[in-house]
Amino acid sequence: MRIAVLGLGTVGRYVVDALESERELFSARLGEELVVSRILVRDQGSERPESVRGRITFAVEEILKDPEIEIVVELMGGYEPARSIIEAALKAGKSVVTANKEVIARSGPALSLAAQPAADLLFEAAVAGGIPIIRSLQESLAGNRLQAIYGIVNGTTNFVLSRMQREGGSFVEALAEAKRLGYAEADPSDDLDALDAVRKISILASLAFGGWVDVDAVPKEGIRGITEVDIAEAKSLGGVIKLVARAEATPDGLTLGVSPTLIPLGHPLADVQGAQNAIYVRGEPIGELIFQGPGAGGPATSSAVIGDIIDAARSRRVGGRSVALPREPAPLVPLGQHAHCYYMRLRLHDEPGALALVAQAFAGAGVTLRSVRQPVREAGISVISVVTGPTRRAQLEDARLSLRGCPSVLAEESLILAEMESLLP
Ligand SMILES: NC(=O)c1ccc[n+]([C@@H]2O[C@H](COP(=O)([O-])OP(=O)(O)OC[C@H]3O[C@@H](n4cnc5c(N)ncnc54)[C@H](OP(=O)(O)O)[C@@H]3O)[C@@H](O)[C@H]2O)c1
Repeated sequence: MRIAVLGLGTVGRYVVDALESERELFSARLGEELVVSRILVRDQGSERPESVRGRITFAVEEILKDPEIEIVVELMGGYEPARSIIEAALKAGKSVVTANKEVIARSGPALSLAAQPAADLLFEAAVAGGIPIIRSLQESLAGNRLQAIYGIVNGTTNFVLSRMQREGGSFVEALAEAKRLGYAEADPSDDLDALDAVRKISILASLAFGGWVDVDAVPKEGIRGITEVDIAEAKSLGGVIKLVARAEATPDGLTLGVSPTLIPLGHPLADVQGAQNAIYVRGEPIGELIFQGPGAGGPATSSAVIGDIIDAARSRRVGGRSVALPREPAPLVPLGQHAHCYYMRLRLHDEPGALALVAQAFAGAGVTLRSVRQPVREAGISVISVVTGPTRRAQLEDARLSLRGCPSVLAEESLILAEMESLLP
């Protein structure tokens, strides 16, 4: 069976190498040989390995118009032209395997509609690299009513937060090390500002809860504002801070969001270190499951891509597989109605009555406080950390508005979900 690979970068290189070095193993699994007949790249000036030179092309039409190519493996990244190429390949009756979360999160349902009956659109590698979470949600867990998914699905932010927690130091220092070690891209904005995690939880929630989740509807908060003080406060409160992508089924709809989250030590997600990814799933009758493993990198991602290639190839020969991406929008609970406990760090003038004014601002909005601590006091400034009781986001916003009008409050410096209890079943 002939396949074409679009992109020969971090992931594409491994996929092409593995398909060649493990040719016999995969042929035995499939009962047919897989041959990479074309490889699309962009830069005509780049030197390519000897082994692929005869197969390189810069013209995607050569692939789309070749009737012998049955599977297109999109590993270019970015939204366009990747989306249009995937659509054209599906319309031409080719199966498509992609690792592209941006395209799937924005256009998954439309693309699966465009597919010819024999053509599959598979995207296991789009969420959490090598962790087989897509197929698990779609197939193995299809007999469950799923209740919640909590994921550490961005390796860059988890590396930065783990490093701040283990070795101390600032966010800037931890990010510099992540870049040096290759865990953060030159422009890590999509990771740090939580957009990458939003794309992934949108895909997971759409598969788990059966309604399409629009990425633009998912509230998000990144990790740029987290400081050493927050990390130390989390520790004193018995937890750690992680960037958690969450999706929960409630009687009113789905509660979705990505934000820095204070999670209790002892919860399986609290121990996920470095660039690892982990996804916690709770459902009936299964109970709790945790998937953990490498969420990025060529080797791990190629594992998911090749699994999809073999699956697509098998399905073209024996039939019977179809990917069900929901098309109807999922009912989402508006952010104002999300109920959580929150951790907040505030900078105050160190003056009599300042704390009382802060307490009044929360009380006036109907927000109870579970803890108020003062980790820093210096030169007329006092930094306090506050943990609220369970409160609706709308009430919290009322309290934040009052705090902004409070003469003793210099700044609100961070806001973190404090899920010390509600993450537990
Ligand atoms: N890297 C990871 O760990 C990882 C993990 C999970 C998912 N993914 C996803 O996998 C995909 C690929 O990521 P990557 O890290 O392998 O990317 P990468 O290293 O940047 O490689 C991209 C490849 O695609 C080619 N390309 C890009 N735009 C093109 C265009 N318009 N026409 C033709 N070729 C084009 C590039 O060609 P040139 O060689 O000519 O520049 C390059 O070979 C992305 O969707 C990414 O989100 C990556």
